[in-house]
Amino acid sequence: MAWTKERLESIARTRLGAAKLIVVSNREPYIHRKTPGGGVECIRPAGGLTTALDPVMQACGGVWVAHGSGNADRQTADQYGQIGVPPGDPSYLLRRVWLTPEDEAGYYYGFSNGSLWPLCHQVYCRPSFSPEHWEAYQRVNEQFASVVLEEAGSGPAVVFVQDYHFALLPSLLKAARPDLVVAQFWHIPWPNPETFRVCPWASEILRGMLGNDLLSFHTQHHCNNFLETVDRTLECRLDREHFGVTSGGRHCQVRPHPISVDPELSTTYLGDDWEQRATALRERHGLGDRPVLVGVDRVDYTKGIPERLAAVNRLLVRHPEWKGRFHFVQVGAPSRTDLSEYRDLNTRIAELTDTINQEHGTPDWKPIVFLNEHHGPEQVTLLYRMAAGCVVSCLHDGMNLVAKEFVASRSDEAGVLVLSQFTGASRELTDAVLVNPFDVNELADGMLSALTMPAEEQRRRMRKMRKQVEDNNIYRWAGMLLSDVAKLVDEPDPESEPELEEMSSFNEMSGMIASATAMSLLQLMGAS
Ligand code: F6P
Repeated sequence: MAWTKERLESIARTRLGAAKLIVVSNREPYIHRKTPGGGVECIRPAGGLTTALDPVMQACGGVWVAHGSGNADRQTADQYGQIGVPPGDPSYLLRRVWLTPEDEAGYYYGFSNGSLWPLCHQVYCRPSFSPEHWEAYQRVNEQFASVVLEEAGSGPAVVFVQDYHFALLPSLLKAARPDLVVAQFWHIPWPNPETFRVCPWASEILRGMLGNDLLSFHTQHHCNNFLETVDRTLECRLDREHFGVTSGGRHCQVRPHPISVDPELSTTYLGDDWEQRATALRERHGLGDRPVLVGVDRVDYTKGIPERLAAVNRLLVRHPEWKGRFHFVQVGAPSRTDLSEYRDLNTRIAELTDTINQEHGTPDWKPIVFLNEHHGPEQVTLLYRMAAGCVVSCLHDGMNLVAKEFVASRSDEAGVLVLSQFTGASRELTDAVLVNPFDVNELADGMLSALTMPAEEQRRRMRKMRKQVEDNNIYRWAGMLLSDVAKLVDEPDPESEPELEEMSSFNEMSGMIASATAMSLLQLMGAS
């Protein structure tokens, strides 16, 4: 039975019962910002988390608590920082949290992205640890805890915490309200114990995360790394058979759930006029009718963008017959620009682009087009659809949703995915051209394969990848997570539940499941 928005809606109703769903993340799904003309625009941020969670929230409803980072966010929200989203057709509530510039600097730029981000990604960027940043991180986690508790009121709630910005939040919530059900999804990799233990606050972070009833990563490998790290750092009982940790009288289950996308969305984003828009885009950037390879990323040192450009250069050196015959279009959304590593990387990519274009280009042809600005989902999907191939060369990535979005957008069953073997996505999309991005020859060969692969082979590979993404879409991810929360109290598997249409003929059974669920959730929430 296929996983759809409607099926998730129904699962959420059964599984959550009367409990309110509260999602917490740093990044908000809709950002309001002032335009130069004095108006206000609403943008969708770059990054996998919000792309993935927004359809889930649209299906389940509830409240999404996040940092209000746009300069027009206050004026568009009410006095409590609340606003119904998506704009125009609201289906859930966004509750914005206001941070001081000092706290944003310490908690977001400092500890989250200067300490935890490089610590968890094995890309040889040394993490920095500042006591001031750590203090801001603790403060902001406490601030979010009080907002979540306010939103939960006194009733039952399931709090679904997102990512490394909130390692302390689960235990803060449990300390205040042991009856809350708390689950966390860690969107980035978890490193091995040797790497993690350099963090001066390793124990505090792990204790914070063990406040969860369920802690989830993209892959079993990251779950194993986490369990090993806990084992070497804290006094606690590890259940290696069932993947869990018992500490301070509480149990935390650790499970993999590979995140995904809503494949249907690409049709909406493309619209009926995509071919005209593709022609206009080709004219705007002087692409002619040449094949285009694309890369779509935040400008981040984990994404392997310089490595990708070096591979374009390599391809042209080793295969000069390709000069003048293709383009590489890199969308690079500026990201975390308050950090010097990110600003420097942006400059380096722009310089590398110029150098390679000068080396190989002609007055009529530039091999690389660097689009160094934020692109919305409609523009990105258009690029995916018109490309001969998409290059994802991350040096390390928990999942990488660009790979899945590209596949989802290719209903024509054409196009080649060149995919780093160091992404979580490479475990699922095995029909991609898998490459080691540290190996410039291999990456250049991967790009050449994308330019030369026969249509029949493209179709064979793309068909399989599309089936993978369709079967394992974002609704399945959320449904399985909800089910795992429920399974903590012996719930049945939603994969084996009767079809929604069949439910009426199984009245007795669904009634039993519903009352068992309600009872189990109450027990789980300690409200017997
Ligand atoms: O997945 C990691 C992550 O930090 C997500 O939270 C987010 O989707 C993405 O990277 C973008 O990062 P930021 O929110 O810092 O711009």
